[in-house]
Amino acid sequence: MDKSLPNRAIEWQDQQLILLDQRLLPGTVEFLFIDSVSGTFDAIKDMVVRGAPAIGVTAAYGVVLSALTHSQLDKDKAKQQIEIDIAKLNKARPTAVNLTWALQRMQKCLREQKNNTIASLEKEAVAIHQEDIAANQSMGELGATYINEQSTVMTHCNAGALATGGYGTALGVIRSAFAQGKLQKVFANETRPWFQGSRLTSWELEQEQIPVTLICDFAAASALRAHHVDWIIVGADRVAANGDVANKIGTYSLAILAKHMGKKFMVVAPTSTIDLNSVHGNDIEIEERGHSEVTQVGEKVMAAEGATVWNPVFDVTPADLVDVLITERGAVEKPTAFKIAQLFNKKDV
Ligand code: MRU
Repeated sequence: MDKSLPNRAIEWQDQQLILLDQRLLPGTVEFLFIDSVSGTFDAIKDMVVRGAPAIGVTAAYGVVLSALTHSQLDKDKAKQQIEIDIAKLNKARPTAVNLTWALQRMQKCLREQKNNTIASLEKEAVAIHQEDIAANQSMGELGATYINEQSTVMTHCNAGALATGGYGTALGVIRSAFAQGKLQKVFANETRPWFQGSRLTSWELEQEQIPVTLICDFAAASALRAHHVDWIIVGADRVAANGDVANKIGTYSLAILAKHMGKKFMVVAPTSTIDLNSVHGNDIEIEERGHSEVTQVGEKVMAAEGATVWNPVFDVTPADLVDVLITERGAVEKPTAFKIAQLFNKKDV
């Protein structure tokens, strides 16, 4: 690879945002150079970059791009314009709360600045990015303590380096467990309709030489029965205050399967994914995307013309189906509203 090109999904170089175009993986590795708020908005909305923490990190850099764009205006006008851009970025996708979380942090930073707004915002965005990587690494270590020797696990969607600042949430646990020699194999569900599992997770795991077996989503029950899968490990787009988990469509079915078949179900998410304003899962807006994601695979039409389509891309898994929620502040076994509130009251993180 060209040395000047990044090796992560999101890079900030010379005040430019560089994103690996995830729509083209695994066939093509191509980077987009983004220098505007509208470019950042489109990249999130069109899924050049996706995954809850990655969306948050990207939006934070988008705010820096806004400040650079408005640097010729007087200070107050520039701040007003940046606030408008923050509101716009916040609408790029509705479910992953990391987007709002990161933008609120950038907004707070903006409002606190008297001078040197660009430098301060840049520092804050880089901090959000670095903190996410550090959180993933510590969640990886913590989550791996739940994995026994010679385990086989299943994951859904892509909750890896591509979906985060780096390292990954669910795949972070898988990476750490593999590094400790505990993991025999990972089942990756293909994750219809966007194929995050087959296009992204199997690509990431192959690169790390972690043994991965790709299955159709509806082979999950058979895989759980036939292959002694110990844990199902997933990320999250938003965790409500009571522990309900919004994640990629199909996660809820897997949690029900896990319960029925006596398998363990782990959710790995930084506290930036926990939304105390969503009291329970019903408060979480579930994104619905275009019909062509269901009726087509690439350019090929796979459905009868005129077929009615419903394409919710996330679902909500009730907290009582979750065995453990791994965060960078600690593990919450059998999450409840009380235990999650306790997590936020912890002083030493
Ligand atoms: O629609 P996507 O690809 O953005 O959905 C991503 C997921 O559902 C992930 O599981 C979730 O964001 C966790 S990523 C660490």
